[in-house]
Amino acid sequence: MTRTVLILNGPNLNMLGTREPATYGHETLDDIADMCRLTGERLELQVEFQQTNHEGQMIDWIHQARGRCAGIIINPAAWTHTSVAIRDALVASEVPVIEVHLSNVHARETFRHHSYVSAIAVGVMCGFGSNGYRLALEHFAQLIKA
Ligand code: DQA
Repeated sequence: MTRTVLILNGPNLNMLGTREPATYGHETLDDIADMCRLTGERLELQVEFQQTNHEGQMIDWIHQARGRCAGIIINPAAWTHTSVAIRDALVASEVPVIEVHLSNVHARETFRHHSYVSAIAVGVMCGFGSNGYRLALEHFAQLIKA
């Protein structure tokens, strides 16, 4: 079985570190990518880490995971709340999905309470900051072992 886990990040997450630090913290996306790669090495997973501000690019990456990846960890950012296309792509990929949010979206504005992705995900990590990515990787490592 493949041990590749694809970690996908949606719009504006390239601005982490300077973007609303009271909500998203001071870590940059590069810091999170480094932490995920180290975690991947420890868990013997091959981690691929990507970010885009373009929905079509995100959909292409999701399609390319089909038959190739053991899991997708996705922080769809604002697309969480708007994109049927991302949800449909994730379903079409037939790859298990864990949804991650740095902030607790349920403690924020009402428009963030609905996710198009949650219902088709294995589970959701939300409000744990970058630890959510680590926990999601740990879960996939256990799934693969089982
Ligand atoms: C986010 C939460 C979303 O509501 C928001 O649009 C983001 C980041 C998070 O990681 O907390 O861009 O996904």
